Amino acid sequence: MTPLLSARGVTVRYGSLAALDGVDLRVDHGQRHALIGPNGAGKTTLLDVLGGATRADGGRVHLAGRDVTRLGPAARARRGIGRIHQRPATWSSLTATENVVVAALPHAVRPGRWRPGAKRAAAERTAGVMLERLGLRDVGGVPAGRLAHGQRRQLEIAMALAGRPRLLLLDEPAAGLSAVEVGGLVEFLRNLPRAVAVLLVEHRLDLVYALCDRVTVLRDGRTVATGTPAEIRASGPVRQAWAEGVS
Ligand SMILES: Nc1ncnc2c1ncn2[C@@H]1O[C@H](COP(=O)(O)OP(=O)(O)O)[C@@H](O)[C@H]1O
Ligand SMILES: [Mg+2]
Repeated sequence: MTPLLSARGVTVRYGSLAALDGVDLRVDHGQRHALIGPNGAGKTTLLDVLGGATRADGGRVHLAGRDVTRLGPAARARRGIGRIHQRPATWSSLTATENVVVAALPHAVRPGRWRPGAKRAAAERTAGVMLERLGLRDVGGVPAGRLAHGQRRQLEIAMALAGRPRLLLLDEPAAGLSAVEVGGLVEFLRNLPRAVAVLLVEHRLDLVYALCDRVTVLRDGRTVATGTPAEIRASGPVRQAWAEGVS
Protein backbone atom coordinates (compact mmCIF):
# COMPACT_ATOMS: atom_id res chain seq x y z
CA MET A 1 0.00 0.00 0.00
CA THR A 2 1.22 3.51 -0.79
CA PRO A 3 2.46 5.10 2.44
CA LEU A 4 0.81 8.29 3.63
CA LEU A 5 4.18 9.99 3.82
CA SER A 6 7.43 8.98 2.24
CA ALA A 7 10.65 10.96 2.53
CA ARG A 8 13.71 9.74 0.63
CA GLY A 9 17.28 10.97 0.94
CA VAL A 10 16.37 14.24 2.68
CA THR A 11 19.44 16.44 3.11
CA VAL A 12 19.61 19.90 4.70
CA ARG A 13 22.91 21.77 4.99
CA TYR A 14 23.71 24.82 7.08
CA GLY A 15 27.15 25.83 5.82
CA SER A 16 29.43 22.88 6.45
CA LEU A 17 26.96 21.23 8.86
CA ALA A 18 24.56 18.62 7.50
CA ALA A 19 21.52 18.97 9.80
CA LEU A 20 20.01 16.09 7.79
CA ASP A 21 22.10 13.73 5.71
CA GLY A 22 20.10 11.45 3.43
CA VAL A 23 17.19 10.68 5.77
CA ASP A 24 14.49 8.18 4.73
CA LEU A 25 11.20 8.07 6.60
CA ARG A 26 7.91 6.31 5.96
CA VAL A 27 4.67 6.99 7.82
CA ASP A 28 1.69 4.77 7.04
CA HIS A 29 -1.96 5.85 7.11
CA GLY A 30 -3.17 6.22 10.68
CA GLN A 31 0.21 5.32 12.16
CA ARG A 32 1.51 6.81 15.41
CA HIS A 33 5.18 7.29 14.61
CA ALA A 34 7.71 8.69 17.07
CA LEU A 35 10.87 10.52 16.04
CA ILE A 36 13.44 10.44 18.81
CA GLY A 37 17.13 11.25 19.19
CA PRO A 38 19.63 13.45 21.01
CA ASN A 39 19.56 17.23 21.02
CA GLY A 40 20.63 18.56 17.60
CA ALA A 41 19.90 15.25 15.84
CA GLY A 42 17.78 17.03 13.21
CA LYS A 43 14.27 16.18 14.45
CA THR A 44 12.85 19.71 14.18
CA THR A 45 14.62 20.24 10.86
CA LEU A 46 12.98 17.07 9.50
CA LEU A 47 9.51 18.25 10.60
CA ASP A 48 10.26 21.62 8.95
CA VAL A 49 11.11 19.84 5.70
CA LEU A 50 8.00 17.64 5.87
CA GLY A 51 5.75 20.61 6.64
CA GLY A 52 7.32 22.67 3.85
CA ALA A 53 8.80 25.43 6.04
CA THR A 54 12.36 24.43 5.10
CA ARG A 55 13.41 23.64 1.54
CA ALA A 56 15.70 20.60 1.54
CA ASP A 57 18.98 20.66 -0.36
CA GLY A 58 18.32 17.14 -1.54
CA GLY A 59 15.76 14.36 -1.42
CA ARG A 60 12.04 14.06 -2.12
CA VAL A 61 8.85 14.06 -0.06
CA HIS A 62 5.70 12.27 -1.24
CA LEU A 63 2.28 12.57 0.40
CA ALA A 64 -0.10 9.73 -0.49
CA GLY A 65 1.96 9.05 -3.61
CA ARG A 66 2.11 12.67 -4.81
CA ASP A 67 5.37 14.55 -4.95
CA VAL A 68 5.04 17.58 -2.63
CA THR A 69 8.77 18.39 -2.49
CA ARG A 70 8.34 21.79 -4.13
CA LEU A 71 5.19 22.86 -2.27
CA GLY A 72 5.26 25.44 0.52
CA PRO A 73 3.60 25.11 3.95
CA ALA A 74 0.17 26.44 2.90
CA ALA A 75 -0.12 24.08 -0.07
CA ARG A 76 0.97 21.14 2.08
CA ALA A 77 -1.56 22.11 4.76
CA ARG A 78 -4.28 22.03 2.09
CA ARG A 79 -3.12 18.52 1.17
CA GLY A 80 -3.42 17.37 4.77
CA ILE A 81 -0.25 18.11 6.73
CA GLY A 82 -0.83 19.85 10.09
CA ARG A 83 2.05 21.13 12.18
CA ILE A 84 2.56 21.82 15.89
CA HIS A 85 5.74 23.76 16.68
CA GLN A 86 8.27 23.33 19.45
CA ARG A 87 7.09 26.74 20.72
CA PRO A 88 3.37 27.32 20.22
CA ALA A 89 2.71 29.54 17.20
CA THR A 90 -0.52 31.47 17.77
CA TRP A 91 -1.68 35.04 17.13
CA SER A 92 -1.39 36.63 20.60
CA SER A 93 -3.82 39.49 20.10
CA LEU A 94 -6.58 37.31 18.60
CA THR A 95 -8.86 35.34 20.91
CA ALA A 96 -8.58 31.56 21.09
CA THR A 97 -11.75 31.27 18.99
CA GLU A 98 -10.46 33.73 16.38
CA ASN A 99 -7.19 31.81 16.12
CA VAL A 100 -9.02 28.59 15.30
CA VAL A 101 -11.41 30.38 12.91
CA VAL A 102 -8.45 31.78 10.98
CA ALA A 103 -6.90 28.30 10.84
CA ALA A 104 -10.20 26.74 9.72
CA LEU A 105 -11.14 29.32 7.07
CA PRO A 106 -9.05 27.98 4.16
CA HIS A 107 -10.57 24.54 4.77
CA ALA A 108 -14.18 25.54 5.49
CA VAL A 109 -16.52 23.72 3.15
CA ARG A 110 -18.18 25.95 0.59
CA PRO A 111 -21.93 25.60 0.71
CA GLY A 112 -23.80 24.56 -2.44
CA ARG A 113 -25.44 27.96 -2.69
CA TRP A 114 -23.23 30.90 -1.94
CA ARG A 115 -24.37 33.40 0.65
CA PRO A 116 -22.37 36.08 2.44
CA GLY A 117 -20.57 34.85 5.53
CA ALA A 118 -21.34 31.16 4.98
CA LYS A 119 -17.70 30.18 4.90
CA ARG A 120 -16.97 32.11 8.06
CA ALA A 121 -19.98 30.52 9.76
CA ALA A 122 -18.66 27.06 8.85
CA ALA A 123 -15.22 27.99 10.21
CA GLU A 124 -16.84 29.25 13.43
CA ARG A 125 -18.70 25.98 13.85
CA THR A 126 -15.47 24.05 13.35
CA ALA A 127 -13.74 26.32 15.88
CA GLY A 128 -16.46 25.67 18.47
CA VAL A 129 -16.11 21.90 18.05
CA MET A 130 -12.29 21.98 18.23
CA LEU A 131 -12.16 24.24 21.30
CA GLU A 132 -14.61 21.93 23.05
CA ARG A 133 -12.54 18.85 22.17
CA LEU A 134 -9.36 20.45 23.51
CA GLY A 135 -11.02 21.63 26.72
CA LEU A 136 -10.74 25.31 25.75
CA ARG A 137 -14.41 26.24 25.50
CA ASP A 138 -14.32 28.48 28.56
CA VAL A 139 -11.38 30.52 27.26
CA GLY A 140 -12.67 31.01 23.70
CA GLY A 141 -12.91 34.77 24.22
CA VAL A 142 -9.47 35.18 25.80
CA PRO A 143 -6.61 36.58 23.66
CA ALA A 144 -4.12 33.77 22.95
CA GLY A 145 -1.29 35.87 24.38
CA ARG A 146 -2.97 35.75 27.79
CA LEU A 147 -3.46 31.97 27.88
CA ALA A 148 -1.25 29.75 30.03
CA HIS A 149 1.46 27.86 28.13
CA GLY A 150 -0.43 24.56 28.32
CA GLN A 151 -3.57 26.18 26.94
CA ARG A 152 -1.65 27.77 24.06
CA ARG A 153 -0.26 24.32 23.26
CA GLN A 154 -3.81 22.91 23.21
CA LEU A 155 -4.88 25.87 21.08
CA GLU A 156 -2.23 25.12 18.49
CA ILE A 157 -3.43 21.52 18.32
CA ALA A 158 -7.01 22.78 17.85
CA MET A 159 -5.76 25.03 15.03
CA ALA A 160 -3.93 22.18 13.32
CA LEU A 161 -6.98 19.89 13.58
CA ALA A 162 -9.22 22.61 12.17
CA GLY A 163 -7.26 22.15 8.94
CA ARG A 164 -8.54 18.54 8.77
CA PRO A 165 -5.06 16.99 8.55
CA ARG A 166 -4.27 13.44 7.47
CA LEU A 167 -0.89 13.78 9.13
CA LEU A 168 -0.18 15.73 12.30
CA LEU A 169 3.44 16.75 12.93
CA LEU A 170 3.99 17.34 16.65
CA ASP A 171 7.25 18.81 17.94
CA GLU A 172 7.68 18.05 21.66
CA PRO A 173 4.04 18.77 22.56
CA ALA A 174 4.54 17.78 26.22
CA ALA A 175 7.36 20.27 26.80
CA GLY A 176 6.48 22.76 29.52
CA LEU A 177 3.18 21.07 30.42
CA SER A 178 2.19 20.12 33.96
CA ALA A 179 1.72 16.44 34.84
CA VAL A 180 -2.06 16.88 34.64
CA GLU A 181 -1.80 18.58 31.24
CA VAL A 182 0.50 15.81 29.94
CA GLY A 183 -2.11 13.26 31.05
CA GLY A 184 -4.77 15.17 29.13
CA LEU A 185 -2.57 15.37 26.05
CA VAL A 186 -1.88 11.62 26.07
CA GLU A 187 -5.59 10.91 26.48
CA PHE A 188 -6.41 13.27 23.63
CA LEU A 189 -3.82 11.78 21.25
CA ARG A 190 -4.97 8.25 22.16
CA ASN A 191 -8.52 9.18 21.19
CA LEU A 192 -7.56 10.91 17.96
CA PRO A 193 -9.31 9.13 15.06
CA ARG A 194 -7.07 6.79 13.07
CA ALA A 195 -7.91 8.86 10.00
CA VAL A 196 -5.19 11.12 11.35
CA ALA A 197 -1.63 9.79 11.37
CA VAL A 198 0.80 11.31 13.88
CA LEU A 199 4.53 11.97 13.64
CA LEU A 200 5.61 12.83 17.18
CA VAL A 201 8.96 14.28 18.22
CA GLU A 202 9.24 13.49 21.90
CA HIS A 203 12.05 12.94 24.36
CA ARG A 204 9.85 11.38 27.03
CA LEU A 205 10.05 7.67 26.27
CA ASP A 206 7.08 6.85 28.52
CA LEU A 207 4.91 8.93 26.18
CA VAL A 208 6.49 7.41 23.09
CA TYR A 209 5.79 3.90 24.32
CA ALA A 210 2.26 4.80 25.47
CA LEU A 211 1.29 6.36 22.15
CA CYS A 212 3.32 5.06 19.25
CA ASP A 213 3.43 1.89 17.16
CA ARG A 214 6.58 2.84 15.26
CA VAL A 215 9.77 4.61 16.32
CA THR A 216 12.55 6.16 14.23
CA VAL A 217 15.81 7.22 15.86
CA LEU A 218 17.80 10.11 14.40
CA ARG A 219 21.33 10.97 15.30
CA ASP A 220 23.66 13.52 13.69
CA GLY A 221 21.20 13.96 10.83
CA ARG A 222 20.95 10.27 10.03
CA THR A 223 18.43 7.52 10.72
CA VAL A 224 20.14 5.03 13.03
CA ALA A 225 17.18 2.74 13.68
CA THR A 226 13.51 2.30 12.89
CA GLY A 227 11.17 -0.34 14.30
CA THR A 228 8.50 -1.16 16.82
CA PRO A 229 8.88 0.31 20.30
CA ALA A 230 9.97 -3.14 21.58
CA GLU A 231 12.64 -3.45 18.88
CA ILE A 232 13.92 0.05 19.51
CA ARG A 233 14.02 -0.47 23.25
CA ALA A 234 16.25 -3.51 22.74
CA SER A 235 18.56 -1.95 20.15
CA GLY A 236 22.14 -0.85 20.78
CA PRO A 237 22.17 2.43 18.80
CA VAL A 238 19.29 3.77 20.83
CA ARG A 239 20.85 3.04 24.18
CA GLN A 240 24.00 4.69 22.91
CA ALA A 241 22.12 7.77 21.68
CA TRP A 242 20.49 7.99 25.09
CA ALA A 243 23.74 7.72 26.94
CA GLU A 244 24.84 10.84 25.04
CA GLY A 245 21.87 12.87 26.16
CA VAL A 246 18.43 13.11 24.69
CA SER A 247 16.38 16.20 24.01
N1 LIG B 1 18.52 27.76 10.90
C1 LIG B 1 19.63 27.08 11.25
N2 LIG B 1 20.86 27.56 10.96
C2 LIG B 1 21.97 26.87 11.29
N3 LIG B 1 21.97 25.68 11.91
C3 LIG B 1 20.77 25.15 12.23
C4 LIG B 1 19.55 25.81 11.91
N4 LIG B 1 18.51 25.04 12.34
C5 LIG B 1 19.07 23.95 12.90
N5 LIG B 1 20.43 24.02 12.84
C6 LIG B 1 21.35 22.99 13.32
O1 LIG B 1 20.95 21.76 12.76
C7 LIG B 1 21.10 20.71 13.70
C8 LIG B 1 19.76 20.02 13.92
O2 LIG B 1 18.90 20.91 14.63
P1 LIG B 1 17.42 20.51 15.04
O3 LIG B 1 16.71 19.99 13.84
O4 LIG B 1 16.83 21.70 15.71
O5 LIG B 1 17.67 19.33 16.07
P2 LIG B 1 16.69 18.66 17.15
O6 LIG B 1 15.31 19.17 16.90
O7 LIG B 1 16.82 17.19 16.92
O8 LIG B 1 17.21 19.04 18.49
C9 LIG B 1 21.68 21.34 14.96
O9 LIG B 1 23.08 21.17 14.93
C10 LIG B 1 21.29 22.79 14.83
O10 LIG B 1 22.20 23.61 15.51
MG1 LIG C 1 13.92 20.22 18.12
